Amino acid sequence: MRVFSGIQPTGIPHLGNYFGTLINWLKLQNEGHECFYSIVNQHAITVPQEPKLLSQNIIQMAATLLAVGIDPQKSTLFVQSDVPAHIQLAWILSCLAPMGQMERMIQYKEKAKSDNTANLGLFSYPVLQAADILIYKADTVPVGIDQAQHLELTRILAKKFNNQFKELFKEPQTLHTQTTKVVGLDGTAKMSKSKNNYISLVEDEDTIWKKLSVAATDPARIKKSDPGNPEICNIYSLHQLFSNQKDLDWVVDGCINAKIGCIDCKKQLFKNITDFLNPIRERYEALIQKPNEVRSALENGAKKANKVASTTLQEVYESIGFKY
Ligand code: TYM
Repeated sequence: MRVFSGIQPTGIPHLGNYFGTLINWLKLQNEGHECFYSIVNQHAITVPQEPKLLSQNIIQMAATLLAVGIDPQKSTLFVQSDVPAHIQLAWILSCLAPMGQMERMIQYKEKAKSDNTANLGLFSYPVLQAADILIYKADTVPVGIDQAQHLELTRILAKKFNNQFKELFKEPQTLHTQTTKVVGLDGTAKMSKSKNNYISLVEDEDTIWKKLSVAATDPARIKKSDPGNPEICNIYSLHQLFSNQKDLDWVVDGCINAKIGCIDCKKQLFKNITDFLNPIRERYEALIQKPNEVRSALENGAKKANKVASTTLQEVYESIGFKY
């Protein structure tokens, strides 16, 4: 089975990225599937980026992906702009994309609402995403729930191309994790870099505690003696990702029966999160000292990706009449 997925280099990935999708990237890689994982820098510039920071972010993203377990011997890890066929196919797909469909893209509408300087790249972003996937003829795309509509468009564009020209593309399946959407520390929106409500995968212990200690909990629990409801508590939803059954039972009983305070609950969560993240941060810190090794992994990945992507592009060119 062939797998494709991408992540924007807009900072270190956070727990939302990890439980929403990276966990599946690792699972598919370790099951022996043919995986293409891309750091999608061309998507990142649909909002303004500081050039120096963007290039740092690319290396940091690559080092983090390696630190969580993406293995360049098993998976093809590369930077999107190193494989020009993505953009070349995106142009062709954009000539098939119905305007009405494009105007219904939720992420565009949300981003354009909060930023009146929205550009054409932001609008056509989902077409480039479709090209990322179709250029590899991927069967499966592991992503969080926020990407489901973009995947739907990808299948529509694949079908349209196949009907109009030649049966070339597969209609890729979306693969979500059990968690699908990790809520942010503020307890309201999804965990995201732009909302600053996240814990990154390489955060140090002090920062993690600073963030956790002020994170939202069940608002009914003002004093320790106030009983709470774990099901609506943001901290409990994080416990479910990091804690064993014994800890979960302790939290549920302690919260409902007001035996423990929110701070006790957070302390246990802090321990479980740091047990999990400390080894990732240590591997990241070692890798970031050797940026040339990271660059060389990305260059090798781009070579492998270019081979597959340029073959598909030639097939596309042939199908649409660009060969003369
Ligand atoms: P990006 O960079 O915003 O996020 C990368 C992946 O993390 C998932 N994710 C989450 N999942 C659960 N809970 C959260 N709080 C959370 N935050 C982020 C996202 O769903 C995503 O899977 N458009 C994509 C990148 C992309 C792509 C592609 C993905 C470009 N081309 C082709 C798949 C295939 C994006 O902006 O992801």
